[in-house]
Amino acid sequence: MTVIYPRKFRDQLTAQAILDRVVEQPEAHMVVLNRYRFNEQHSCKDLTDLMERLDGQPKELVRELSHHVADEARHAYWLSDLLCDLGSEIGTPPGMSYISEFEHLLDTNSVNNKEDIIIDGIAAINVTEKRGCEYFAAHIRALQKTEQTPENIQIRETIEKIMPEEVEHVKWGNRKLAEIAKVSPEHKIKVEQAKRKYAAIEQAALEYSMDILAGAEFRRLEHLVKIVETLPMWQRPQYLSEHFGNALFNGKLQETRFEFAQKAWEKDPAAFFEKFIPMFFADNLKGKK
Ligand SMILES: [Fe+2]
Ligand SMILES: [Fe+2]
Repeated sequence: MTVIYPRKFRDQLTAQAILDRVVEQPEAHMVVLNRYRFNEQHSCKDLTDLMERLDGQPKELVRELSHHVADEARHAYWLSDLLCDLGSEIGTPPGMSYISEFEHLLDTNSVNNKEDIIIDGIAAINVTEKRGCEYFAAHIRALQKTEQTPENIQIRETIEKIMPEEVEHVKWGNRKLAEIAKVSPEHKIKVEQAKRKYAAIEQAALEYSMDILAGAEFRRLEHLVKIVETLPMWQRPQYLSEHFGNALFNGKLQETRFEFAQKAWEKDPAAFFEKFIPMFFADNLKGKK
């Protein structure tokens, strides 16, 4: 069986490098925690949607999914409690959203029979759960290394409560996919294909949600091509035509860039020219040297 691990952001920045910086900046730290909260809350919707599509069959799977929804709802309220205790906001997080980008890149309409709904559904859940574990583990390590303030201890204890349940979710998904792959060689091919497809979609969603620098549109297009390469030939043209526009002309991306630039300017106009502008064009400048 293929084992697919999440890749780093732009093949450069590890979750650890990101989280080590985040825990040192209280404002960014609260935004990240609120993103976790939002993702946990949103995953309840996705699991419920899958249960409704399955409509009670297979019974055992739907039963397991209903327990899974309860776990994710609990994670969401633990994080809501934490953020409220810390006096922070629990609204929709600003900027690009990983889970929304992931959802946009799915093509649930191309999957209609029950067996494919199950394989795709579990493969999609599994790959986001793996990313969640990677970030939570890195976050706990970052919080162990930083200053032990009451806030940081409370944050670490909350993530430590969530983490073991996420590990169980990953194990559950791996087990389910392995069981399906054992049914026949055709099932094995379907499972392997779904794993590759959702790994490519997940990586694209991560990069779409974090990359707002110059040239991001072309990198989005590169990711789109990588997703398309995992699809059967007959699905490729339609997928590409449906997602091409969103990759290249994305209003939310422009809005996020503008907000980011505005904040940098308001904070320090001198640093805006010395640091923000060179950082924004970093890759493009490198390319011209
Ligand atoms: Fe969760
Ligand atoms: Fe989970």
